[in-house]
Amino acid sequence: MNAEGRSRLDQMPEWTALGKHREQMGEVRLRELFEQDPGRAERYTLQVGDLHLDYSKHLVTDETLRLLGDLAAATDVTGLRDAMFRGDKINNTEQRSVLHTALRAPGSAVIASDGENVVPAVQAVLTKMSIFSDRVRSGDWKGHTGKRIKTVVNIGIGGSDLGPAMAYEALRAYSHRDMQFRFVSNVDGADLHEAVRDLDPAETLFIVASKTFTTIETITNATSARDWLLAGLGAAGSGGAGSAGEAVAKHFVALSTNAEKVAEFGINPDNMFEFWDWVGGRYSYDSAIGLSLMIAIGHEQFREMLAGFHLVDEHFRTAPPHENAPLLMGLLGIWYGNFWDAQSHAVLPYSHYLSKFTAYLQQLDMESNGKSVDRDGNPVHWQTGPVVWGTPGTNGQHAYYQLLHQGTKMIPADFVGFARPVPDLRPGLVPQHDLLMANFFAQSQALAFGKTPEEVRAEGVAEELVPHKTFRGNHPTTTILASELSPSVLGQLVALYEHKVFVQGAVWNIDSFDQWGVELGKVLAKRIEPALTEGAEVPGLDPSTAGLVGKYRALRGR
Ligand code: F6P
Repeated sequence: MNAEGRSRLDQMPEWTALGKHREQMGEVRLRELFEQDPGRAERYTLQVGDLHLDYSKHLVTDETLRLLGDLAAATDVTGLRDAMFRGDKINNTEQRSVLHTALRAPGSAVIASDGENVVPAVQAVLTKMSIFSDRVRSGDWKGHTGKRIKTVVNIGIGGSDLGPAMAYEALRAYSHRDMQFRFVSNVDGADLHEAVRDLDPAETLFIVASKTFTTIETITNATSARDWLLAGLGAAGSGGAGSAGEAVAKHFVALSTNAEKVAEFGINPDNMFEFWDWVGGRYSYDSAIGLSLMIAIGHEQFREMLAGFHLVDEHFRTAPPHENAPLLMGLLGIWYGNFWDAQSHAVLPYSHYLSKFTAYLQQLDMESNGKSVDRDGNPVHWQTGPVVWGTPGTNGQHAYYQLLHQGTKMIPADFVGFARPVPDLRPGLVPQHDLLMANFFAQSQALAFGKTPEEVRAEGVAEELVPHKTFRGNHPTTTILASELSPSVLGQLVALYEHKVFVQGAVWNIDSFDQWGVELGKVLAKRIEPALTEGAEVPGLDPSTAGLVGKYRALRGR
């Protein structure tokens, strides 16, 4: 038993039973599973809101699913889930509630953190965001020189960038097409340079998004953006050094939990949209962090997206285990990661609008479950979060799918696709959607069932080429098919993955809501910077890094 009174995961009978089951399964073949069970495809599908989820192409049987369910029960996934929804401080290393689900709860809900109902504050911020976004969209909010805002630049990093950037891209078809939206994250000055080089400062609104308002990348970029704005407005003749504060008030707003730091930066607290420490950065784009998205799509559609999130929250909270999609997806990941030695997980969206979806999921999953100690600080003796990767189809097919089909690695994958193209697609392009989706269906079919040597020979292929043209198949995939990529469906998809990540963290007994692993690099970068600029001695630099720093200085002529 560990300090929480929970047995070590890999010593639980439910865990060892899964190990034995895996051994007994041996070389299970998807072809045979389908032959033996004609009802498999129908039985192994779930409908959650608008999401149709087919998990029949997995290396599982009813027995596997039963044993995975036993593991979830033994590790009390639902207990931790209920504690999360209740507002208990399940982020134990930071002693915080984990209440992103409150961000999309109806206004009538009562959800307490530290004994206080958080829902009224959530709704008040949503209202403030709605009023502001309406004013920007309609042109009622004017810049310092009286011009309307044409471009919104979100400056943030990690969860304060990936979420709004991904969702804006996903919902571009629903966005205000006369406005532009750009996202700056990298401390590499090239990012800001390229984002603003063709903009008129008088028509540009900067949204500085940072939960802590201390993140060096964001504060550095925001400071440079302010310099660019003031210089530009000064050159335009109608701003001027004397009115810098007024100009900033018209062109800068902040999204943060840290009012003090926002004021210190020079942004009027009236122009700050608040959120709270119980919203993790990677779970935050449905909070004030989504302001750029709300300006893009309008508050009604933003609310539709929140309703989509909430629908899946309710499903996760109430659906019985065998019909619970996030639970199932989490357990399938555990099956492959812990019992099949899969190291990575591919997410392959067949929608160009989801071009940033996998990058978003990388932070969600890898920052949450990239842990190697359990909730009590003991080393884990089992694999935790996978490497998450992927790009939109069909591009990946002409890049890395070769390895998926014929390589040596076990890589479970999710295919995400939509029955209809986005509503404003030019009619002439609509037929391409069927071609896109034909690829979507073909790829998971090929991955699952492959092509046997006999089938290759039957095509008259020369014997020496038969091994090269054979597809082993048996690669497990989940297919998620939805009607169309609407605001609600995006919310449903993101909530599905959020809770999948939750389930895995709960079984592995790790804290999915801290991210101490990003700290060391930050501290070292601060220490190294003076060595680059001033040649300062950095105590404790290892010989390799010291050599590289010396080389850098020489190349810079310092
Ligand atoms: O990468 C670490 C991290 O803290 C993320 O969790 C977070 O999303 C990101 O930095 C940005 O943090 P902030 O919103 O405080 O600027």
